[in-house]
Amino acid sequence: MKIKNVELKSSYTLAPMAGFSDCGFRSLCSEFGCGLTTTEMVSARGLLYDGEGSFSLLNYEKNESPRAVQIFSNEPEVVAEIIKQGKLKNFDIIDINMGCPMPKIVKEGMGSALLLDPKLAEKIIKSACNNTSQPVTVKFRIGYDKNNIIATDFAKMCEDSGASAITVHGRTKTQAYEGRANWDVIGDVSSAVKIPVIGNGDVLSLDEAEQKIKTYGCCGIAIGRGALGRPWIFSNKKTDEVDVLKVIKKHFAILEKYYSERLVLLHMRKHLACYIKDVKKAKIIRHKIVTSQDKQEIFNLICEVFKK
Ligand SMILES: Cc1cc2nc3c(=O)[nH]c(=O)nc-3n(C[C@H](O)[C@H](O)[C@H](O)COP(=O)(O)O)c2cc1C
Repeated sequence: MKIKNVELKSSYTLAPMAGFSDCGFRSLCSEFGCGLTTTEMVSARGLLYDGEGSFSLLNYEKNESPRAVQIFSNEPEVVAEIIKQGKLKNFDIIDINMGCPMPKIVKEGMGSALLLDPKLAEKIIKSACNNTSQPVTVKFRIGYDKNNIIATDFAKMCEDSGASAITVHGRTKTQAYEGRANWDVIGDVSSAVKIPVIGNGDVLSLDEAEQKIKTYGCCGIAIGRGALGRPWIFSNKKTDEVDVLKVIKKHFAILEKYYSERLVLLHMRKHLACYIKDVKKAKIIRHKIVTSQDKQEIFNLICEVFKK
């Protein structure tokens, strides 16, 4: 699968996840064969004003390739400016978030609020495309609510505005993460545009992903929650074929290159809760992990859990 001039490693990509898509996790997914990784959503305004928090989300490992950065904004001029200033230059693809349902984002007219304002969405996409040769992509939901399923028209608008690919999450904004993703709508979108469509929602294995591509005609599949605690999902390996402890150690080691010990612990606690979700007594171990302030103690606990 190709997005403009960027050849993906496979048709299966990592869906961006705020709080989880750190450079360690993305690097591991890439190593396990993920076709394209994307940072969590980063504020375009935060990047314009050199916000430390926003910039720290742009860290990456060299093996993470190809890689996309996802930005969110309601200001076409700000998007143009950060691109002109070269702030996104280390990424192969620029993705724009038009699907986030979080109230603090939607209230500001960003994320899925843009589904109700396609004119502004169009301006944002055009202002990105007009200022870079990097492919620009858009990730959005099928509509704001069940009475406003606008995915096909929105997809055509993205294509006409210069987007090189789109990722469609088969839920509405009001659904948030409830119910099931509506793949029939993703299928309609795939037939309606010529640019690659990456379908997204509720896929938990590569077999399922392959089936979805066959049934709904999309070019690729983005996997989000199915990859949490299982970056090897992209390799089709079963968990018992993977040295999970080695993966966790690598995850720690990458984050330690970029973040303070406090931040590493904050990140890793969330990931460890996912890595251990299928082991015996996961609840008790999770409790110990989230309440411990001591990295070595957490490390010893994990070594005990995954020792062969
Ligand atoms: C914890 C979490 C954080 C998320 N953060 C983002 C984000 O930053 N940008 C985005 O476009 N989508 C975000 N999403 C949505 C996912 O990318 C994806 O669309 C959704 O989880 C459905 O895919 P899945 O069923 O494979 O998880 C997030 C989802 C979760 C669960």
